[in-house]
Amino acid sequence: MQWFSHLRDVDPEIYNAICAETQRQHAKLELIASENFVDYSVLEALGQPMQNKYAEGYPRKRYYGGCEFVDIAESLAIKRAKQLFGAEHANVQPHSGAQANASAYMAFLQPGDTIMGMELAHGGHLTHGHPLNLSGKLYNVVAYGVRPADAPEGPEQIDYEQVRQVAREHKPKLIVVGASAYPRLLDFAFFRETADEIGALLMVDMAHIAGLVAAGLHPSPVPYADVVTTTVHKTLRGPRSGLILCRKDHAKAIDSAVFPGQQGGPLEHVIAAKAVCFKLAMEDEFQGYQRQIVKNAQTLALALQEEGLRIVSGGTDNHLMLVDVKGSLGLTGKAAEERLDSVDITCNKNTIPYDTEKPFIASGLRFGTPALTTRGFKEPEFKRVGALIGAALKGEFSEEQQLKVRAGVAALAAEFPLYSELREVLQPVEIAAAEVAP
Ligand SMILES: Cc1ncc(COP(=O)(O)O)c(C=O)c1O
Repeated sequence: MQWFSHLRDVDPEIYNAICAETQRQHAKLELIASENFVDYSVLEALGQPMQNKYAEGYPRKRYYGGCEFVDIAESLAIKRAKQLFGAEHANVQPHSGAQANASAYMAFLQPGDTIMGMELAHGGHLTHGHPLNLSGKLYNVVAYGVRPADAPEGPEQIDYEQVRQVAREHKPKLIVVGASAYPRLLDFAFFRETADEIGALLMVDMAHIAGLVAAGLHPSPVPYADVVTTTVHKTLRGPRSGLILCRKDHAKAIDSAVFPGQQGGPLEHVIAAKAVCFKLAMEDEFQGYQRQIVKNAQTLALALQEEGLRIVSGGTDNHLMLVDVKGSLGLTGKAAEERLDSVDITCNKNTIPYDTEKPFIASGLRFGTPALTTRGFKEPEFKRVGALIGAALKGEFSEEQQLKVRAGVAALAAEFPLYSELREVLQPVEIAAAEVAP
């Protein structure tokens, strides 16, 4: 059997789109902080017949027959997740980070209860209480944020005094810690102390930093939190999916909130791929990889500062940074993202704390180093990336300048090829133009 030969014959349009996407991932520089490139072993685990299996329930307690082999995969995934993070209990079934969070809420809260999370505009996530998300519709939400940029101490870092005040005033039943765009370490001990003072539960969503936590480069929330949720596909470099960790005494509540509370049948092929991801994350090479992610982020932040760009909070402790492009260059985040896209650098616009622009325009860009670090980029390459970003964002952006930056990007991509074996197989086929029109 040759990889993708059936797909090429059955559905050349989808086959060609996959060819083009694989080539795009190779040819462009991926700086989206929440993306990564999984190992071939993870891709193989995703594309296999476990995808056919219904397995409602949990290993050895299923509502369907024929689960003996998916039970092996799910049990291994659970065992490895517990071992990797030192947790008493793991639920590996959440289809995504959002479903992991919804399940954690469902395990502990009733509609109308109060939760406290980080302001979305200050780096928090939609699922931590945004009015348009189920979390904001079901629960009463109060928020904490970061200090202003001119704060004498810890500018644009979490205002822990405010955390304590808001908690004391509103007495939330559950405190959510975690973010999508926060470049600094999180003080889980402080949040635990605050939760204990008001008798609240503590939930940590470590989606962005899970790889760093697994490698011991960010303090672990596991000893402090009642429940820890995460995605598996960001720094952790696994399949797109979610995971929940908790203490034994919460295991039953969490398991029944995931199934039957939030989901039906688990995606057993994705669970098999999670097991592979957790195995890889326990190897020594993974530690080195995570260490390099952080070094690369610090190198990129410095290189961007040298280009005259302001880094929110003055730097980074983790895998990502926020750049104030509006304050530095007068460009909106949207315009800056478009400029970079046009020279094959992929990132996302992002609001910065106290932003006056709407999220779709934004004043900032978010950059993360996990994906390019997977390709083998180290400090010298990230200095080159910083210079290319500077060249693209500053000045008139003439055609000549664009060509120069694009050539610099192409050189880096060629030096660190991605999915070469796969790209050799994935050769696009000729299809009539009409067939690809939407
Ligand atoms: C902190 C955090 N939690 C949850 C999620 C949601 O994950 P998913 O996209 O898998 O639903 C994200 C995704 O960006 C995130 O950053």
